[in-house]
Amino acid sequence: MYPSRTAYSDSLNFFGDQSPGELVARFGSPLYVYNEAVLRRRCRDMKNLARVPGFVACYSTKANGNPSLLRIIREEGLIADAMSPGEMLMLRLAGFSREQICYVSNNVSARELELASVEAAHVSVDSLSQLESFGRLRPGLSVMLRVNPGIGAGHHAKVVTAGKDTKFGISPDDFAQMRDILRRHDLRLVGINQHVGSLFMDAAPFLEAAAWLLDTARDFPGIRLIDFGGGFGIPYRKYEGEKPLDLEELGAKFTALLAGYRKETGYDGQFIIEPGRYVTAECAILLGTVHAVKNNGPTRYVGTDLGFTILARPMMYDSFHDVELYPADDTRRPNMVQTVVGNICESGDILAKDRELPEAREGDLVGVLDAGAYGMAMSSNYNQRLRPAEVLVGGDAQARLIRRRDSLEDLQAVYPDHAPDPSAEA
Ligand code: LLP
Repeated sequence: MYPSRTAYSDSLNFFGDQSPGELVARFGSPLYVYNEAVLRRRCRDMKNLARVPGFVACYSTKANGNPSLLRIIREEGLIADAMSPGEMLMLRLAGFSREQICYVSNNVSARELELASVEAAHVSVDSLSQLESFGRLRPGLSVMLRVNPGIGAGHHAKVVTAGKDTKFGISPDDFAQMRDILRRHDLRLVGINQHVGSLFMDAAPFLEAAAWLLDTARDFPGIRLIDFGGGFGIPYRKYEGEKPLDLEELGAKFTALLAGYRKETGYDGQFIIEPGRYVTAECAILLGTVHAVKNNGPTRYVGTDLGFTILARPMMYDSFHDVELYPADDTRRPNMVQTVVGNICESGDILAKDRELPEAREGDLVGVLDAGAYGMAMSSNYNQRLRPAEVLVGGDAQARLIRRRDSLEDLQAVYPDHAPDPSAEA
């Protein structure tokens, strides 16, 4: 069906002046390769989504917190949300100011709430109990509240973040109590936020939830921030011609909604969206190496170094990622159905099941598309595997290292009884 399986990356000149083979020879395998031009385009898509005064795109750092990428996102004019002290640190390393950081918390310690109120311009809490803690800690301060619209959406039950069956947000049933806590601690409510779930390709639930949030906002005159969350999807099935989100249509409807609200209520604060995946997913291809091939019953397994410690999404949500093949030689490769697996000791360690791809052989490279969001960010050291390096192909088509690979010394360093540095023994 496909003469070669590189058409997508070729069409973008994704790897710049170096081939996947050269990249792996230089930086090792597995390797996350990011393309700066793609990242900048996606930032601009989001920044220009709605054309109404006060509209702001706030990148959700959890999708990818590499500070070199965050720096580009900042240069493109996005602000950012964080949900852990580590994410705030990465944002500061990337040059984000306090004013450009919003902290969206979930079940955090009093100490963390305090830190967030110092390091971020706005802190959002998402339960009455956390609102109490915040009030005790920071009476008189401003606060945002995460509300639960009762409508959820997402590509998998595990990423639906609103509705009755989730742990997130404050339900409208609790608003009276919430006002009481605000009063008692003299807290100033500056904004409300929500996030209904991750990855929609049909804008209707997002717009419905947005309309609900605007209705809710009417009950809180004086707020300056209305944050609609993220969830903007990307087409993961590129080789099947899946269409991207229709941003023209979504943008027009969203703009009309926001403009209408402004006109009706005189609101002149900010309208915020919090995209993560849309900004970073498409700017990375994850490279891995084929180390073994075998037939087990009817299945041809392509064994690679891309275990679920490197990319967890297929294992965790049965997510689909397109795969490209970069053969190590020029021999003709007939297409055949193959299952690409990793090197982790679990049978669920499957990256791509039953895919029609050119015949893979030892020494070939595979490229996993759309790996930039929730890829490296969710990698782990399970099986004491090392997390990979990351490189960025810049505007000059050259690749440079933006995160080095873990080393065995890194693994050792956290165990005080066994730390490699002798001075740590003192
Ligand atoms: N805002 C809040 C409060 C969130 O919880 C999230 C994602 C976002 C924004 C950004 O959502 P996005 O635009 O990226 O859909 N690991 C899963 C996705 C989990 C999303 C968690 N929250 C995956 O790989 O599909």
